[in-house]
Amino acid sequence: MLMIRSQLVGESSAIQNIFQTIEKISQTESTVLIIGESGTGKELVAKAIHDNSARAQKPWVVVNCAAIPSELLEAELFGHTKGAFTGATQNRIGRFEMANGGTILLDEVAEIPLHLQAKLLRVLQTKQFESVGSSKTVEVDVRIITATNRDLEDAVQKKEFREDLYYRLNVIPVKVPSLRERRSDIPILVKHFVEKFNQMTGRSVEPLSGQILEALVAYDWPGNVRELENLMERLVILKGQGTVDLGDLPHRVFKKYAEERPQGEGALSEWEFPRMVLPTQGLDLKSIVDAFENHLIDQALARTGNNKNRASEILKMNRTTLVEKLRKRGLITPLAKKSLTPENEGGQVEPISQ
Ligand SMILES: Nc1ncnc2c1ncn2[C@@H]1O[C@H](COP(=O)(O)OP(=O)(O)O)[C@@H](O)[C@H]1O
Ligand SMILES: [Mg+2]
Repeated sequence: MLMIRSQLVGESSAIQNIFQTIEKISQTESTVLIIGESGTGKELVAKAIHDNSARAQKPWVVVNCAAIPSELLEAELFGHTKGAFTGATQNRIGRFEMANGGTILLDEVAEIPLHLQAKLLRVLQTKQFESVGSSKTVEVDVRIITATNRDLEDAVQKKEFREDLYYRLNVIPVKVPSLRERRSDIPILVKHFVEKFNQMTGRSVEPLSGQILEALVAYDWPGNVRELENLMERLVILKGQGTVDLGDLPHRVFKKYAEERPQGEGALSEWEFPRMVLPTQGLDLKSIVDAFENHLIDQALARTGNNKNRASEILKMNRTTLVEKLRKRGLITPLAKKSLTPENEGGQVEPISQ
């Protein structure tokens, strides 16, 4: 493992490549364009470049260009003078000046409106600009890193992004892979976030393992590490302590694993039959068995997004039996008498179709 300072967790060869790239480019002053889907860690990559560079002790400034309304972006980046526009009650320096001596990350750079792209190009070439409402030229010493989840070449084709600016930004492109392209990092990220949120919130959820980890590795993570981080936070907070099981996962996460995992042989041994001890005073067998049954039915419904056809298939029972059980628990209201047709009279056909 390379000795670079970074908050990036991961051991896959894909992430090792990123570490190597960070190490190389942090020694240079070149402009870097970080490309990758949302939530892949682009901001952490940029921060690692800064932290391992000669500028590490100098300012680190992040601007999310998509989050700032385009009419305010110019003043935000370059500052403004008092009276430059309504609401500008005093002089204010912009982010480029705040970053002087250090590094600026322009996140979501594709969202910079065309008229500002020319000004940005000039900053890249000369490090000079004027703040809004001023004619005085300011010069800064800033390393510029940009990031985007959009295809900039496509934006250039569509004339939404200046071609000259694109080439100027794209001196060193760094592609951050999606999480599904480096699934081997998922278990270590899961461990990292469970520990982090346990610590942050004073909970004591057990490390995730077995089937649940397999399900998390099988999932495609469209929101990448950010989605995984948010899910771990939610599980830790809602669970509080003990072991997380498959039933705690949202249906979308569980779905792919449930569909792909081998059926038949071995399927039964994958779950444990509850080992109950009969209390000396005895117990109410019927209510215990009902509770057990309801627990499994609820899991089947959760897993199938409330689809009664599929839930009854998983439970290898008749759909009508399942529906009847739900009706007894008051989870389905019976059909009003007047809308019964001869075929479904008597409750043979489920009135709420899916
Ligand atoms: N490899 C990683 N290790 C640890 N945390 C990560 C990693 N990649 C992303 N994160 C976390 O995921 C979230 C999203 O990362 P971020 O850098 O903002 O993504 P992006 O800028 O690509 O949308 C952040 O909270 C970040 O700390
Ligand atoms: Mg980002």
